[in-house]
Amino acid sequence: MRLLLIGYPLGHSMSPWIHQQFISQHQLNASYHLKEIKPDQFAQTIAALKQSGIDGFNVTIPYKEKIIDYLDDMDETAKRIGAVNTVVCKDGKWSGYNTDGAGYLASLKQHFPDALHSDTRILIIGAGGASRGIVFALLNEPFQSLTVTNRTEARAQTLVEQLESDRLITVQSITEAEHNLKKFDLIINTTSVGMDPQSDELPLDLAQLQPQAIVSDIVYKPLKTKFLTEAESIGGQIHYGHEMLINQAKLSFQLWTGKITDLTPILPEYTKKIK
Ligand code: ATR
Repeated sequence: MRLLLIGYPLGHSMSPWIHQQFISQHQLNASYHLKEIKPDQFAQTIAALKQSGIDGFNVTIPYKEKIIDYLDDMDETAKRIGAVNTVVCKDGKWSGYNTDGAGYLASLKQHFPDALHSDTRILIIGAGGASRGIVFALLNEPFQSLTVTNRTEARAQTLVEQLESDRLITVQSITEAEHNLKKFDLIINTTSVGMDPQSDELPLDLAQLQPQAIVSDIVYKPLKTKFLTEAESIGGQIHYGHEMLINQAKLSFQLWTGKITDLTPILPEYTKKIK
């Protein structure tokens, strides 16, 4: 079985290591390689891949939307998110899926099994692709309310309108959300703020945080972002971003192979590598 990750630039990706652990656990005859594709070579490289008899691949930045034009079908989640991170190739037919949101949820539930219930008030920061994946996954879960805030408020508004959900989902400006912070039990940063180690910027001021609240950051480089450090100093319970990636990978692997991987023996070394 031949598996790939396509994207540009790929740099130092953890995915080959992760999938090699999965392959070993199930004793499969399979490989997972990086395939960096320059934007001006995308169409021709994808055409060549179609001919090559590949079994599946992951898609990352900047191709999660672009790949859609080359697929034969998509599952409901990927359709609604409008982005694909996993492609299954079978009998010449390419099918698109998105496991990012489900990967996030799996990680959250492993660390905070009681986080989501009918009284949970959720605040999502960010309205980009990552936010969409997580919000769509959350729609299948119990919660009391879901609020989206974003630097560009109009984008949050568009995201919420596209959900077409009859549940309590609203938009607040960053300032409003900061002011109302005590009213949230689960706060999720889906923005890239925190990735730049030189910057002191936070996606949101946490001064009004309710001490028992769960604060989750999908940024995992650095593993403990300034946002999480700040949340912890106020008494918040923190949820790190790195296990979203390995859970998303587990779900992709399951789509390709039908195998369910036990992450328990892999997580200690994975976490060490991320640090
Ligand atoms: P991704 O697919 O990773 O979500 P994206 O679609 O480019 O990437 O979205 C990035 C998100 O991070 C957006 O919510 C963006 O806010 P804007 O919509 O206002 O651009 C947010 N973001 C990125 N840099 C930011 C910054 N410096 N401050 C606040 N928000 C930021």
